[in-house]
Amino acid sequence: MTAIADIGVFGLGTMGSALALNLAQSGFTVAVSNREAEWIDPFLVEAGPLADRLVGTSTLADFVATLATPRSILFMIPSGAPMDAMIAQITPLLEPGDTIIDGGNADFNDTRRRSAALTDKGLHFVGMGVSGGEEGARHGPSMMVGGTDHSWTQLQPMLEAIAARFEGEPCVAHLGPDGAGHFVKTVHNGIEYADMQMIAEVYGLLRDGSGKSAPAIGAMFHGWREGPLKSYLMDVSATVLSSTDKDTGQPMVDVIRDRAGQKGTGRWTLIEALKMGQSASTIEAAVGARGWSAEKDTREAAEPMLPMGALTAQMPSDADLELALLAGRILSHAQGFRILSAASEEFDWQLDLARISEIWRAGCIIRSALLDDLASAFRGDFPQGHLILAPAIRLQLQAAIPALRRVLVAAVSMGVALPALSAGLAWYDTMRRGRGTANLIQAQRDFFGHHGFERQDVAGIHHGTWKALG
Ligand code: 6PG
Repeated sequence: MTAIADIGVFGLGTMGSALALNLAQSGFTVAVSNREAEWIDPFLVEAGPLADRLVGTSTLADFVATLATPRSILFMIPSGAPMDAMIAQITPLLEPGDTIIDGGNADFNDTRRRSAALTDKGLHFVGMGVSGGEEGARHGPSMMVGGTDHSWTQLQPMLEAIAARFEGEPCVAHLGPDGAGHFVKTVHNGIEYADMQMIAEVYGLLRDGSGKSAPAIGAMFHGWREGPLKSYLMDVSATVLSSTDKDTGQPMVDVIRDRAGQKGTGRWTLIEALKMGQSASTIEAAVGARGWSAEKDTREAAEPMLPMGALTAQMPSDADLELALLAGRILSHAQGFRILSAASEEFDWQLDLARISEIWRAGCIIRSALLDDLASAFRGDFPQGHLILAPAIRLQLQAAIPALRRVLVAAVSMGVALPALSAGLAWYDTMRRGRGTANLIQAQRDFFGHHGFERQDVAGIHHGTWKALG
């Protein structure tokens, strides 16, 4: 095989084939292969004229031999053991200076391990978060790259050519070494979970609180698409709510079973946050809500047994609902970026939070008008690196928080659960109170565990002289 390809793509599933076509359409020669070799020829046929820039290879040896050196090989395969197996198979065929790229939703801890193991062999390993689904992969994803400068030098021209663009700027960046890219993608997905959950909560309040139909809610969400909630997920939500099931003529969402799946990236966000002593209560609520939704049988049995006991309440205004969602979105992003900031310190990545906001403005699932405001905010200075204290964001919250309070009062009174929106407000109210309640927790811990506590007035660790009540 003549070494003519600029890059190799291994894995011709939904995302891999879309990325390969995007690379070919962008003028690069792409070697393609797949574990099931029988997928290759149909892919090339389906590619039409783009097949001129695609080289199908059915063995790993031919695939590697087709690649110009230093080689860049993008794997788009399931994360975990399949990636380790492919690394073991392909490594003997590679030379120092070659780069393996994992474009799947991998656990960043695996990426750090793989990167370290390959460094010893003079090879480079890149963990790249790719966001935007099939449409994004084919016509412009947002990409979050973690790896060496050597690999970025090879990849930058190709990734910038295929990336989504915001005001002409490619939505791709080299964010740091080894696991940095996959970690940022994981937090992206955590924010994605929270945003989807909060939109579903407002849908639930409108449906269960005021009996609004799916198409009516879809029309309302459609009206929000050009306001402060302008975003891909608002577009998606308006579209799916306005869709009709061709078999029954019913609104499509009304025939869909209310049990949410999750491949795990939202959960990983929480695990890593908690490991760093961080909390992302809106993301926690969203992951929890997906878990509770899976208990459909329990919920159906419980409904007639657990009375609402609801108070009478007035539905909030449409304007309040829109502002409440904006407040929730700001709070969930603030929590997500706090986790990124904590990881940047923990792993010495020097993450550029403004740059991350910028490459999320187009192509990715959480793309929104808010991210442009966040990018500007991160370019400025504000206390403690906490987004909710950035001047422009603080003003947006001041305008939106009262609406969130009114929406939550109404929902609580009607017995409609808004776990993520209420978690966001609880976090905000916690962060804006200088004197919290952990002093009582410290007293309790010292009473039964003699764990000690700090005093307000004297330095050092102290213990109480507790006398148990008679
Ligand atoms: C993206 C999405 C994508 C996501 C899948 C399934 O950025 O394109 O986040 O990567 O992983 O849509 O996600 P869940 O099964 O975790 O909901």
